[in-house]
Amino acid sequence: MGFSFQLKATCPTTQARAGVFHTPHGVVETPRFMPVGTAATIKGLMPVQVAETGAQMILANTYHLHIQPGEKVVEAAGGLHQFMAWRSPILTDSGGFQVFSLSELRKISEQGVTFRSPRDGRLIELTPERSIAIQNALGADVIMAFDECPPYPAERGEVIAATERTTRWLERCIQAHQRPQDQALFGIVQGGVFPDLRIEAAKTLIQFDLPGYAIGGVSVGEPPELIHEIVRATAPILPPDKPRYLMGVGTYREMAIAVAAGVDLFDCVIPTRLGRHGTAYVKGERWNLKNAQYREDFRPLDETCPCYCCQNFSRAYLNHLIKAREMLGFILLSLHNVTELVRFTQRMRESLLQGTFSTDFAQWLEAEKI
Ligand code: GUN
Ligand code: ZN
Repeated sequence: MGFSFQLKATCPTTQARAGVFHTPHGVVETPRFMPVGTAATIKGLMPVQVAETGAQMILANTYHLHIQPGEKVVEAAGGLHQFMAWRSPILTDSGGFQVFSLSELRKISEQGVTFRSPRDGRLIELTPERSIAIQNALGADVIMAFDECPPYPAERGEVIAATERTTRWLERCIQAHQRPQDQALFGIVQGGVFPDLRIEAAKTLIQFDLPGYAIGGVSVGEPPELIHEIVRATAPILPPDKPRYLMGVGTYREMAIAVAAGVDLFDCVIPTRLGRHGTAYVKGERWNLKNAQYREDFRPLDETCPCYCCQNFSRAYLNHLIKAREMLGFILLSLHNVTELVRFTQRMRESLLQGTFSTDFAQWLEAEKI
């Protein structure tokens, strides 16, 4: 039981590090990409396939699981790990961010957020206490604080209000948390695109001595340069001996720059979403497999990729499956895309362990086009 984070290597010229995060359901070797299983499934992939991608920790969502099937069902099933047959680490997001981005008719107050269920129109209130109670019932290894993510763009005053409220909500989350022995509660740094607000928020948060910290409120429509600036300002303030998680970021370039700034964990829906739309990540590019150029291309998607898709099928077959709207096409592309992003973070880890990160990093920034 319990949590610990050990550093295995640090880069002498950047802030990058390789670590091992121990959780009650196993280890997460960082840096690591985490695939998103919003509704307790990585869309299209069976748990055995997800494990084969090299993913160690996956995400699920408080908002979606509360609406359907409800945390009582998951709890009665023996918790999320048992319910979805994923025996490795799981992280649940707290729900606030999803309410903001998905729900209509939401109302936010100091107490929390009220919204209509997209399933049956019922009025639902999510508060810090409620989010933590739901996450305690779901039983993930890592649970996230209930936060307010300001939109982009937003006035400085609005961002200050959301960031301060996020701190007050964090205190309520800590109070409400019933399972600190086997569920690590991570705090979330907000502060929009204002580096001074980010630094202040990070300094406030670390006083709570939490088992890990996330950088939230990025990748909400701001230009990539601003993401980099925010991450470079925020990550070094966070304790070096705790895992750092950049929420919702999962493109090569942004992950590489964030790793160089000292970030350990990432998540993004992009690999499975692209897969479901017939798009593959190959050699740093996005390929639309529907394209006629693949019709008689009998090479694998990526001959260097160890995934089941690349080891067994041709671009021509994938082109056929996608055009025929066959399920297998979307499944194979999702499998490949998740593998590709996890492998990119594994390569960064290997490079850190071998002491070549700073030179490799410069090359990746040159080479990766996304
Ligand atoms: N996912 C991506 N960004 C965020 C954020 O700012 N807060 C939460 N809770 N989840 C996120
Ligand atoms: Zn592949």
